[in-house]
Amino acid sequence: MVLFDVYPLNNITVTKAQGSYVWDENGVQYLDMYGGHAVISIGHTHPHWVKRIEEQLEQIAFYSNSINIPIQQELANKLGKLSGKEEYQLFLCNSGAEANENALKLASFHNGKKKIVAFNKSFHGRTSLAVAATDNKNIVAPVNETDNVIFLPFNDEKALKQCFRDFGDEISSVIIEGIQGVGGINIANESFLKLIRVLCDEHNAVYIADSVQCGYGRSGLFFSHDYAGVDADIYTMAKGMGNGFPVGGILIAPHIKPKHGMLGTTFGGNHLACAAALAVLEVIEEEKLIDVAKQRGQYLLNRLKAIEDLENVRGRGLMIGFDVPEHLKDLKKKLLFDFNIFTGEAKPNVIRLLPALTITRKQVDEFLETVKEAIEELKAESKMLKAEVVQ
Ligand SMILES: Cc1ncc(COP(=O)(O)O)c(C=O)c1O
Repeated sequence: MVLFDVYPLNNITVTKAQGSYVWDENGVQYLDMYGGHAVISIGHTHPHWVKRIEEQLEQIAFYSNSINIPIQQELANKLGKLSGKEEYQLFLCNSGAEANENALKLASFHNGKKKIVAFNKSFHGRTSLAVAATDNKNIVAPVNETDNVIFLPFNDEKALKQCFRDFGDEISSVIIEGIQGVGGINIANESFLKLIRVLCDEHNAVYIADSVQCGYGRSGLFFSHDYAGVDADIYTMAKGMGNGFPVGGILIAPHIKPKHGMLGTTFGGNHLACAAALAVLEVIEEEKLIDVAKQRGQYLLNRLKAIEDLENVRGRGLMIGFDVPEHLKDLKKKLLFDFNIFTGEAKPNVIRLLPALTITRKQVDEFLETVKEAIEELKAESKMLKAEVVQ
């Protein structure tokens, strides 16, 4: 049997990982500035995370949501404390798409309405409603197409107001990433998020804060939406939540009431996933990683801005992007294959940095020096190429 070939792969086999480094099968060390797509929050194979999972594994790994699972409440308590949303309710699932799927569905159950407002360059996942609210026609199958999703320009207050004037009675929810990830590290304006809050309140619509990538401390606050000083009705989470163990969840404001059978999942909230998620929160708290993300991120951002070849350096905390000009279009590839550094990308020309929140100052400096070196090499190579063409 072959694997269903949907991923464009880098020809690298990683066999070991620790902190912000991974090693391939030949023992070559790579600096991980990509965090396995923003998933590695507390560093690869963090000893506390490993120990917590091992201990849980020896007790019980799984039982379905038909019995008491006290570790779910333990997780809810810790999550409430660290996120500052103690009065919210927690529903656990397994991935980011599933979190958004449940959020959009729950919003519609709550207010009985159908329309969803989403934004250009959004990414919310690949399942039914989540993909319908994702601004990428290439991944929307005919069966996912629906008239219920309205796409608006990101950060366009006029368009948002007009949309609510036209469809206010029909809008069930507005879903927005506080910082667009796949879309290329675009920060939602604080005034825009505040306006979403006001309009949702006026029209009985649900404000869904997709925090799958920008949440869990990565931005320097627990949720990037917190920068606007507003409370969303639902926060969706996954990626950094388990540090690589598949777990997702949604935080639900108290005015949205549950009903038996309304949401559900077989695997969501299993013992092992909760142990992994608790370990992550314990490390975030113990090592003050949200503050670290803010400070280290600001340092990285400032130093990147000083590199004149990089354009439009932007981001918050350890969620940073910059545009790569045409003459440096191979920078990502060069960093990976010549300098052994993983980074992320966003089409057409954005490099994304999503390292573990535990990344050290020394590793950040190592990265910055390497970027400068890689840029100089690319410039020299392009000069040589031009000279060859002239000859
Ligand atoms: C903002 C956002 N929402 C949702 C998702 C979907 O998450 P998953 O791949 O876990 O389904 C992603 C994944 O990249 C994401 O970045």
